Amino acid sequence: MCGIVGAIGRKDTNVLNYIVTGLKRLEYRGYDSSGICILNEGTFNKVRAVGKIKELEAKLESIKLVSHIGIGHTRWATHGKVSEKNAHPHIAGSVALVHNGIIENYAELKEALIKKDRSFKSETDTEIIAHLIDESYTRTKDPLAAIKSTIKQLKGMFSLGIMFKEDCNSFFAVKCGTPLVVGRDKDSSYIASDVYPLVEYADEYAFLEDHEIAKISPDHITVFNIEGKELEKKFQHLEIKSEDLSKGGYRYYMEKEIHEQPQVMVDTLQDRISASRDKVLLEDLPLTDEDLCRFKRVYIVACGTAWHAGMLGKYFIEKYARVPVEVDVASEFRYRDPILSNDVLTILISQSGETADTLAAGRQAKKSGSFVIAICNKPNSTMNRESDFTIFTQAGSEIGVAATKSFTSQASTMLLLSLYMGKALKTISDDEIKPILNDMVKIPFQMEQVLKHSEIVSNVASMYSKHKTFLFIGRGVHFPIALEGALKLKEITYLHAEGYAAGELKHGPIALVDNELVLVAICPKDELYEKTISNIEEVRARGGDVISIGSEGDERLKAMSNIFIPMPLVSKDLMPLLEVIPVQLLALSVAIQKGADVDKPRNLAKSVTVE
Ligand code: AGP
Repeated sequence: MCGIVGAIGRKDTNVLNYIVTGLKRLEYRGYDSSGICILNEGTFNKVRAVGKIKELEAKLESIKLVSHIGIGHTRWATHGKVSEKNAHPHIAGSVALVHNGIIENYAELKEALIKKDRSFKSETDTEIIAHLIDESYTRTKDPLAAIKSTIKQLKGMFSLGIMFKEDCNSFFAVKCGTPLVVGRDKDSSYIASDVYPLVEYADEYAFLEDHEIAKISPDHITVFNIEGKELEKKFQHLEIKSEDLSKGGYRYYMEKEIHEQPQVMVDTLQDRISASRDKVLLEDLPLTDEDLCRFKRVYIVACGTAWHAGMLGKYFIEKYARVPVEVDVASEFRYRDPILSNDVLTILISQSGETADTLAAGRQAKKSGSFVIAICNKPNSTMNRESDFTIFTQAGSEIGVAATKSFTSQASTMLLLSLYMGKALKTISDDEIKPILNDMVKIPFQMEQVLKHSEIVSNVASMYSKHKTFLFIGRGVHFPIALEGALKLKEITYLHAEGYAAGELKHGPIALVDNELVLVAICPKDELYEKTISNIEEVRARGGDVISIGSEGDERLKAMSNIFIPMPLVSKDLMPLLEVIPVQLLALSVAIQKGADVDKPRNLAKSVTVE
């Protein structure tokens, strides 16, 4: 993901401070390079740097930029390697722009532009947008028309900040797929990828919706739809205080950490996927392909949320590496005298790396000659020191007691490891790996789309925080998400919730169903869809309410649900990374509704370092 900022003020103001501060507050979104472009009397002035924002700041120290209008960008590379020439902003003729997203049809658009003798300075998909707008603007001299005609040609996700050389009295913003917010105070206007950079600058803000175009002037912001019709935009007062910035402008750490997941995905995937997208990179793993072929069985051992990630690991390793996997909660594993030897691979999963039961399991496995891999979030943890190898999940510090971003990082790491093992065991080809990795790279953007549903989920909270029982169901890779959703709800709302394999409903839990029960059904369109639909019908027939998490456009499921939460269409194995977000948000919303202590729920600790 990338971060966008932009600002315009009165002619005697300098927007540099907002742009640099804003980029630093967006650095969590991606930081392999960054750049800034300002406009003074028909001249663009651009400064870019590879590395963190401090590299850009160092350059700006010696190049004193001053202007009342400018845009800035912090980049996570998707198209084109990390380099200064690929860093944004990109300029084509009269147009300078910054972009967050992926243009899926950029190759064909670039080919058409090259045929029109357009030359390119970068390898990015972004630069083609600048050329398309400039090409249309050169003909019409109408910025809004040029933007409208361009975005109608683009497929994919793109939020943009756009300046036109001839106009230093306004600039433009476009929102499609990835978030973009506009902000204003009495004589300046701003754009940013989230509200965070607006704190201490804007008094009011409004999130743009897909295909909305904003014209940003110092004393007003006009929003149009893609047809050019002016829209009435409701601005909200910016409540966040600068002292709340440690929570990223959110009310709770858990809320912030749920919203950090797109970036955590970026960090987890960074350096783990080859540029050609056909290889998982685990170079430092001290196991040769022959060593990996030696393992006849895999144990995955963890507790709580980490155990749910381990359950996904079972699906992935058995599917892609075809090695039998047993998943165990550590407190059971350590006392059941498991069959361990040097042809067994033991994988421990732990956010803290200090969970007593999981540590004990690891020691037991290691003593029996099993090779122990830890998937852990803490470099200086006991588990890291004691395991044969650690894959770090790069989730950053997770303050909320209820695990959220560590889960999605653990689950995606399990998928990467299963693909790595599959390649070593030759049970999956590069051609089969490539589309999965290509889809994984898009997940951060799709997570941002799913996070937009926090509105729908918060409505659920007010409806359902008075119900007595929540039953979460799912099949296949969706079953661990049902368990995770139930655990989240229990942990922070103290309501009773159970997670069940949907096929088990008839074997007892359906007796719970009455009008005080809420069914949360994870039911995307895959090969088990019809079976879960039947489970939902059984619950509805007995008076239960239904919240469903399904595929975008599934009108049938929507009609059967009291609340329907749509998910983008992604391959089945990646669905859990998206569908866990609504269940996290549901627990958060009900907890807030109930006035619970979201970050520090009663009786719990962030790390269970005793049995
Ligand atoms: C999850 O929300 C809970 N906080 C808890 O179940 C946690 O996942 C479990 O204690 C394991 O912790 P670990 O990942 O640090 O080992």
